[in-house]
Amino acid sequence: MCGIFGYVGDKDVCKVLYQGLKSLEYRGYDSAGIAVIGDSLSFVKDAGTVDQVLSSIKLPSKRAGIAHTRWATHGKPNQINSHPHFDENMKVGVTHNGIIENYKELKKDLMAKGHTFKSQTDTEVIPHLIEDYLKLGNFEAFKKAVSMIKGSYAIVAIIDGSEKIYFARKFSPLVLGANDEYFVASDVTAFLRWTNQAIFIEDGEVGYIQSKKYYIEKGGVEVKRKPTTIEWSFEEAAKDGFDHFMLKEIFEQPTTIRNTLVSKKLEEFANHLNTLDKLVLTSAGTSYHAANAFKYASNIPIDVIVASEFTSLYRGGEILAISQSGETADTMTAVRYAKSLGSKVDALVNVVGSTLTRIADKTIYTHAGPEIGVAASKTFTAQLAALYAVDAHMKGNPLPQIDVKPGLLHSKEIKKLATKLSGAKSMFYIGRGPNYVSAMEGALKIKEISYIHAEGYQGGELKHGPLALIEKGVPVVAICPSDKYREKMIGNIEEVKTRDAYIIGIGQEDDNELKSLSDTFFGMPKTDYPTVTYAVPLQLLAYHTAVIMGRNPDKPRNLAKSVTVE
Ligand code: AGP
Repeated sequence: MCGIFGYVGDKDVCKVLYQGLKSLEYRGYDSAGIAVIGDSLSFVKDAGTVDQVLSSIKLPSKRAGIAHTRWATHGKPNQINSHPHFDENMKVGVTHNGIIENYKELKKDLMAKGHTFKSQTDTEVIPHLIEDYLKLGNFEAFKKAVSMIKGSYAIVAIIDGSEKIYFARKFSPLVLGANDEYFVASDVTAFLRWTNQAIFIEDGEVGYIQSKKYYIEKGGVEVKRKPTTIEWSFEEAAKDGFDHFMLKEIFEQPTTIRNTLVSKKLEEFANHLNTLDKLVLTSAGTSYHAANAFKYASNIPIDVIVASEFTSLYRGGEILAISQSGETADTMTAVRYAKSLGSKVDALVNVVGSTLTRIADKTIYTHAGPEIGVAASKTFTAQLAALYAVDAHMKGNPLPQIDVKPGLLHSKEIKKLATKLSGAKSMFYIGRGPNYVSAMEGALKIKEISYIHAEGYQGGELKHGPLALIEKGVPVVAICPSDKYREKMIGNIEEVKTRDAYIIGIGQEDDNELKSLSDTFFGMPKTDYPTVTYAVPLQLLAYHTAVIMGRNPDKPRNLAKSVTVE
């Protein structure tokens, strides 16, 4: 997820672009850049935050410019890979948010025509495509180039000699700001300080802004759309109107899971894993839970060692380190120890260019975008999606079909249940097989943001001691999809039911037996991936409980987003 921004008007263009980007930094912050139209196209861009790269620049500009703050998906964060990108003749400048799935084919064709590339990014194909068609006219060239792109994109482009800023949208958000001068941005936060009049661009629409005018079309037909007034404050707008980043990130999961599943690198990695006779996974916290899900799924022998215990337990073999931040000290220590013994180290990471990606031999990525909330949500389900996709490729199966939308629909009922839970002193989450992973993750979520003590337990283990803690009203979240573990899990639920626990059942929507055992029941559609789809109601349960208890779910006490100490 990146922040893109464009402006046409009489203000100081560089200053407007810098201020707009500052408001978009929550969308990505590993590199930044701007390009403006003056006597020719001029630009500044580099790795670093918006302040580091752009706070004191002055460029010769008339009235139009574009800007970008990056969250790297292809190509490390450095000057060459930062946006805007240009054709070799500096006729066209482009910033982009999204993933171009066919960029390799496009790049090959363009290079065959003599185009030369500088970066490792997918974005760089866009200015070359536009330049290739400039003889058609600027807007026609832009539309022709956009029509050749497959994937998700929000694109903003400037073309030398023109004071128009061109835009196109598919899957990635784009919105115009209007008040006699025009802005185009990833979201309204970029221009709210100047106007609350917004024109939201829909998928498949292209157009341009220019002095005192905007134009939108779809399929060659003009789209007339009036501005809507944004009632949100600036702060609320950064969260797209959600109360917290965590809730926004929970609701982003349909997109982030899709973006991760289609990543081309996963199949290549699966082919590599098929050459191994075992694999050792190491990670911490939520990433440790994701690692365990892979252990239940994979046919090859998998060992999972929690990063902080790795140096005591590791006995050799190739490593797969999982870390959304790519900076967790425990995981880095584990990886460095394995490398010191001569082992190969692979990594599954969300942050491109992070330390782990620089020391791993092979890196595959989740495409969850920046996760601002301290508690992992979309990065967890993206890790699972990546691991299940790798497993499917290893077995020659089709890509997983994962739909997390049904879990989002339970948000209102879960909010009602949260009121009941907010008085709990302690809770249990139980599951069998991979649903034990969900139990561990669900317990971690509610612990770390509501501060209620909770334990994730194997359903079959309660009777070996913890059952002594079950008494009237103790909440027990029973994760029980209709899979091969269900029969025994129903028995475990009956064990706690007879001790008057308060049962919160999460299972298949037609499971009437589970429903009758539950004091509160959340029905979910049939799924082959309950660790992913059931994660959403468990995240929402933690979120709503925390909010009702007056906690700040984005910034829980004592915790940090990236744990860089041991
Ligand atoms: C999860 O909600 C926590 N924020 C924490 O357990 C986290 O998963 C852990 O610190 C590992 O972080 P990483 O994935 O960035 O390595």
